[in-house]
Amino acid sequence: MSQDAKKRQVAEAAFEKVRHLLDSETPIGIGTGSTANCFIDVLAESKIQVLGAVASSKATEERLTHYGIELLDLNATGTLPVYVDGADEADPRLNLIKGGGAALTREKIIAEASVQFICIADDSKRVDVLGKFPLPVEVIPMARSLVGRALVELGGDPEYRQGVVTDNGNLILDVHGMSITDPKALELAINQIPGVVTCGLFAKRPADILLLASDNDILEFSRDA
Ligand code: 5RP
Repeated sequence: MSQDAKKRQVAEAAFEKVRHLLDSETPIGIGTGSTANCFIDVLAESKIQVLGAVASSKATEERLTHYGIELLDLNATGTLPVYVDGADEADPRLNLIKGGGAALTREKIIAEASVQFICIADDSKRVDVLGKFPLPVEVIPMARSLVGRALVELGGDPEYRQGVVTDNGNLILDVHGMSITDPKALELAINQIPGVVTCGLFAKRPADILLLASDNDILEFSRDA
């Protein structure tokens, strides 16, 4: 099965999982990327009238608007019952690397604000140890070199993502060469460097449920299991 077909299938599975929450009074959170886009497509095709969604990026806002789905402000919605988003890597404890699409900061805010975080991906994203995918770090522009040097001290090899400005007006450093055996400790360490907005490790607030599309099946992993 193609990767695109897997993304569509896992988005359909996520839709079935959250369907009972979808009504005209309940806000939901929706992430960024090609898999999250599939979820938006499935939601729109269902024709269910939802209250609206808090989006993790301008790109997601545009897709939701295209389908006539209302954009909601997280400051007005308060806690969200569910957030659906993709990931770049997921480990067995449902710790994630996110930010391949540069939307990590808003993604982390929405994940933190949600009761349940359902992560959807194809099975190529499942790893034993995080770090093969370069870890994205969102950085205030004037701190780019300072943060880069600090990341080298932490054992990484940061690369400036040329030509990318985040929705928050910041830069992305992609950190190569890290074998992330203690994701929570590394997340906290990186987030404490002055000039870092946030890093793409989702370990302090990992996913609650991971749905993975394989060739034949949708695999479901739960953090409580
Ligand atoms: C965006 C993200 C995405 O969830 C991640 O990059 C996965 O994207 P895709 O579904 O296109 O593989 O973190 O910042």
